[in-house]
Amino acid sequence: MSRYREMTRWRRNDLPRAAILRSGQSASGRASGCLVLLAAAVCGGSAMAEPMGLGREATPEEVAAWDIDVRPDGQGLPEGEGDVMTGEMIYTERCSSCHGIFGEGEGRWPILMGGSGTLDQERPVKTVGSYWPYASTVWDYIHRAMPFGDAQSLSPDEVYAVAAYVLYLNDVVDDDFVANADTYAAIELPNADGFIPDDREATELALFSGEPCMTDCKEHVEITMHAAVLDVTPDGAGMDLEGAAIAPGPAETAPEGEASAMEPAGTDDMEVAAAEPALVEQGKALFPRCRACHEVGEDAGNRVGPHLNGVLGREAASVEGFDYSPAMREMAADGLTWNADKLADFLIDPRSVVPGTRMVFPGLTPEDAKAMAAYLGALPEEG
Ligand code: HEC
Ligand code: HEC
Repeated sequence: MSRYREMTRWRRNDLPRAAILRSGQSASGRASGCLVLLAAAVCGGSAMAEPMGLGREATPEEVAAWDIDVRPDGQGLPEGEGDVMTGEMIYTERCSSCHGIFGEGEGRWPILMGGSGTLDQERPVKTVGSYWPYASTVWDYIHRAMPFGDAQSLSPDEVYAVAAYVLYLNDVVDDDFVANADTYAAIELPNADGFIPDDREATELALFSGEPCMTDCKEHVEITMHAAVLDVTPDGAGMDLEGAAIAPGPAETAPEGEASAMEPAGTDDMEVAAAEPALVEQGKALFPRCRACHEVGEDAGNRVGPHLNGVLGREAASVEGFDYSPAMREMAADGLTWNADKLADFLIDPRSVVPGTRMVFPGLTPEDAKAMAAYLGALPEEG
């Protein structure tokens, strides 16, 4: 393959991508598109409005580290300044080994200048000067990706200077040009009008244009699976975030022998917990297996299954607002109440106690079921 062909290949792969990302509405539109999807998935139903217990807020420093894009109108350009002459020195030192002293390209590295008037030829030479639509992209690209292999090692001042030099190599600015956020706004690249949005119905432009929907974007959300059931969500740590009020998992269980730390706060009924702290702790450690469907603790609500606060001693199918199966309601009408033994039997094999129950659960071992009953019995009634 000829050196020339290789170079055109680079540019074909690289530049359009950079240009598309920089072309404003697609970059921001893309982002809000994601938000819409997320919002629909995460916030669709009221039962899903609480935090999911995943991740954490990004710190301002983390956001700043990602937020480095510069838009076509210059939005995002930092403070700073650099002139063509300073840029030439930086360029010679940091860039010329690959791109050549005058941007002509060393070996098979990309050339950075020339090519004007070649776009309609069989082998167009696409450069900043001949092809790129926005000067802001030159800043963004160099800042983001160059020098190749040592990306983001240049200070804003250095990027202003070296980008000014690249623009100078392309006859876009004069040798006395001083680049900063203000002077950038005035630069127009020769091929600025050479791009048209592909607004055919079948393309994605329509999808990412216009006002993104941020609330109530979907009338009806059907939850078909829970991440925890799919086994993609880590159990334990991080689940007891504000509002979720879910019992802490094994990661946060109290150190051994510290029964008091483990007893749920705000209840007088500590007998079970006091009686068998080890068993309670064992049950607590197993609760992640229920958590995909059941909540306990303060503010616990109904999810796939009813909340389990105070379930020991509770009549079956008695949580208000939960849509029990006919089977469970029938058992309740027959007088089923959850005492420790009944509960343990149910957890070992739900269908043997309530044939036709909607609780789809493979069952616990008898020992684990006993521990779980002890744990649930130790929970305060109101969470
Ligand atoms: C080690 C070699 C190397 C060095 C040093 C280097 N570059 Fe690059 N440069 C590349 C490569 C390779 C590409 C193409 C990258 C790609 O396609 O992903 C590129 C692409 C570019 C482009 C886009 C070219 C186009 O039209 O597609 C610009 C502008 C650029 N570099 C500027 C600079 C500047 C300014 C410096 C110095 C601060 C620099 N480069 C240092 C290798 C280098
Ligand atoms: C995949 C979801 C799911 C999992 C996992 C699950 N349950 Fe259930 N559970 C349900 C559903 C749904 C019901 C209501 C059953 C019905 O109406 O037939 C239920 C009902 C119950 C009931 C009866 C409550 C009442 O008010 O009568 C108890 C007790 C219970 N589950 C405990 C547990 C425990 C403890 C675990 C963990 C060891 C667990 N469940 C795991 C979905 C689940």
